[in-house]
Amino acid sequence: MDLDSIDGSRLPVHVGCVMDGNGRWARKQGLPRTEGHSAGEEALFDAVEGMLELGIRWFTVYAFSTENWRRPPDEVRFLMNFNQDLLIRRRDELNGKGVRIRFAGRRDWRVPRRLLRRIQESEALTEDNRRLTLTMAFNYGGRAEIVDAVRALAASGVAASRVDERAIRSHLYYPDAPDPDLVIRTSGEFRISNFLLWQLAYSELVFSDVLWPDFRRQHLFEAVREFQRRDRRYGGVEA
Ligand code: IPE
Ligand code: IPE
Ligand code: MG
Repeated sequence: MDLDSIDGSRLPVHVGCVMDGNGRWARKQGLPRTEGHSAGEEALFDAVEGMLELGIRWFTVYAFSTENWRRPPDEVRFLMNFNQDLLIRRRDELNGKGVRIRFAGRRDWRVPRRLLRRIQESEALTEDNRRLTLTMAFNYGGRAEIVDAVRALAASGVAASRVDERAIRSHLYYPDAPDPDLVIRTSGEFRISNFLLWQLAYSELVFSDVLWPDFRRQHLFEAVREFQRRDRRYGGVEA
């Protein structure tokens, strides 16, 4: 799969990715689950390179869900430290490539304060970059995001008759981000698991059997080709 087979005039503007299968990848190699998370770093950065090669400007990845707190405390602790270290290790490199780093999700008491600090520093460091916006959905849940938006709306004192789709959208975590055109889920699971529920209304979904640590830009290119074969109708009829 090479870039030539992709139609540069019909690229998705925003790609989302549910990076799933780290635990199964590790188990297959006889390793602890946490080794799968570590191995996922290379997959993420290769996918980022693929986005830059294609010229796609928005990439949102699911890194930790509001439901992932149900995992064993050791794994949760590992993931908190891992994401913190990843930011420290990689933020200058991402900044140098023109990537804007953002975190979407609840910044509540469960997220260690030192990780929150690294998140804030990374966002501040890269806030003027526009080549690619890499949003890490972290302590993120689609339902929680909608609840937070509705709460903010209610707190603003808006009249019930003024609540419409635009009002709700404007209170999502990042109202400036376009809805994802393409969402990829790896590891052979056919579900959304609470990712971007509002924004997914008309996204094209591509499911891949590849376990996340094995994912490379070629798999991204394949998914984009699949996206380009789809006929998006948005409830209308074919043109
Ligand atoms: C995805 O891989 C990473 C996170 C949810 C943090 P998993 O850890 O869910 O891997 P599987 O699904 O158990 O294989
Ligand atoms: C979704 O994967 C969350 C992330 C990839 C961060 P999960 O592994 O948590 O989803 P389920 O439990 O299989 O639905
Ligand atoms: Mg999983």
